[in-house]
Amino acid sequence: MDVRPYLNTHFDRFTDELKELLRLPSVSADPAYADAVRQTAQLVADHLEKIGLNNVEVCATPGYPVVYADYTVGPDAPTVLVYGHYDVQPADPLELWETPPFEPTVRTTPIHPDGALFARGACDDKGQFFMHVKAIEAMLAQGPLPCNVKFMIEGEEEVGSANLAWFVERNRERLACDVILISDTGMLAPGIPSITTGLRGLAYMEVELTGPNRDLHSGLYGGAVANPLNALAQLIASLHDADGKITLPGFYHDVADLPAETRADLGRAPFDLDAYKKALDLTDVVGETGYTTLERAGIRPTLDVNGLWGGYTGEGAKTVIPSKAFAKISMRLVPDQNPEKIAELFQKHLESNAPKGTAVRVTPHHGGWAYVCPPDHPGYLAAHQAVAQTFGKEPVPVRSGGSIPIVALFEKELNAKSILLGFGYDSDAIHSPNEHYGLANYRKGIETIPWFYTYYTKG
Ligand code: BES
Ligand code: MN
Ligand code: MN
Repeated sequence: MDVRPYLNTHFDRFTDELKELLRLPSVSADPAYADAVRQTAQLVADHLEKIGLNNVEVCATPGYPVVYADYTVGPDAPTVLVYGHYDVQPADPLELWETPPFEPTVRTTPIHPDGALFARGACDDKGQFFMHVKAIEAMLAQGPLPCNVKFMIEGEEEVGSANLAWFVERNRERLACDVILISDTGMLAPGIPSITTGLRGLAYMEVELTGPNRDLHSGLYGGAVANPLNALAQLIASLHDADGKITLPGFYHDVADLPAETRADLGRAPFDLDAYKKALDLTDVVGETGYTTLERAGIRPTLDVNGLWGGYTGEGAKTVIPSKAFAKISMRLVPDQNPEKIAELFQKHLESNAPKGTAVRVTPHHGGWAYVCPPDHPGYLAAHQAVAQTFGKEPVPVRSGGSIPIVALFEKELNAKSILLGFGYDSDAIHSPNEHYGLANYRKGIETIPWFYTYYTKG
């Protein structure tokens, strides 16, 4: 369905409405923003109501609410469930933002010559889920929708979606659907449309290593007792070998060899290593021997330190051997790796290999399974046709290295596949300072989504 005339007339308002949404600091990780998170849920519900959806509800959970709404044409028509998240990552470090994170501002960049909206959540995921709200508005302006549509927009994706799992388990009936449509991923580059066909899983861990029972003078005790920071650095360094392989016993047990076809597909995705290095100011890339950069970042499992702290980090120098050292470590998983099993083997390995004179305690955080969307799924085919239609080019299927852990749970609980129809770029700085979303991407998304419904319901 061509919504361009409506889109052209109303695009400025669509942009203003998104800006209003972006002004609310809906940071789910920080309790200081609890009011803003709840206000955001209400604003999302108001929008769904205003465009004419039914049964709009801000559904309470033990955490932040899930916003639900639906539109029914009849029991014989298929049902599309739209998922997204209205929560955002913390904005820090604030001093690195060129304009404040919750004061959306339009600026152009080389990759966004028509302007991009700079704000926390612009791309991940407010700007992207809101395209669905506006696409449905534009479709309803032309008449009834071609199928049943349900919206489920949550407020805890960035903290692991624990209460969305709770909600889904209790609302299987209400959420029943044939396919789930999600815009919370990216595209390769301008002029190279792509559709995400897979996501990595995740196991997120916290490590606490204890040495002496108190902080010590590093002159009086240094050299004679284990230094927790030295010991933790050693322990972490031992988790990779010289080939970049992860040394946790059993880590690769369920990792299948990459099918030649998957590698060939990925090899065809346009990728410029020099430009990649240049964009990140890197002299070189690193990773598991025998794999390309795209393979390392998309379809191989990884282990990365996300945070490492302890001892004295203030101004000047303080001579001290800290009593404790800490780390946060994430492992990105591939299909068939069980996040609970991986968390357990990580915990066992670290706790039983504490360097001499120290003790290690591991606490698992959230996790989730990897996800793969088969390229012959009717939803994938519809997305493919929709993108080809509006971009004038066949999209490239790509496996992303990111995670949306709840997607695997949808498959289990709702028995439906998710189609990852995202429109951001990796360079849009999601989770980083100066996150932004191209206005052209926002417009193209709203233009493309209605075609998804056209092709999906054509059979
Ligand atoms: N939207 C992202 C995931 C993403 C982004 C996937 C780009 C593919 C391409 C999502 O909001 C996210 O940040 N996920 C987290 C995991 C979550 C449990 C915090 C991630 O991947 O780190
Ligand atoms: Mn997201
Ligand atoms: Mn995110």
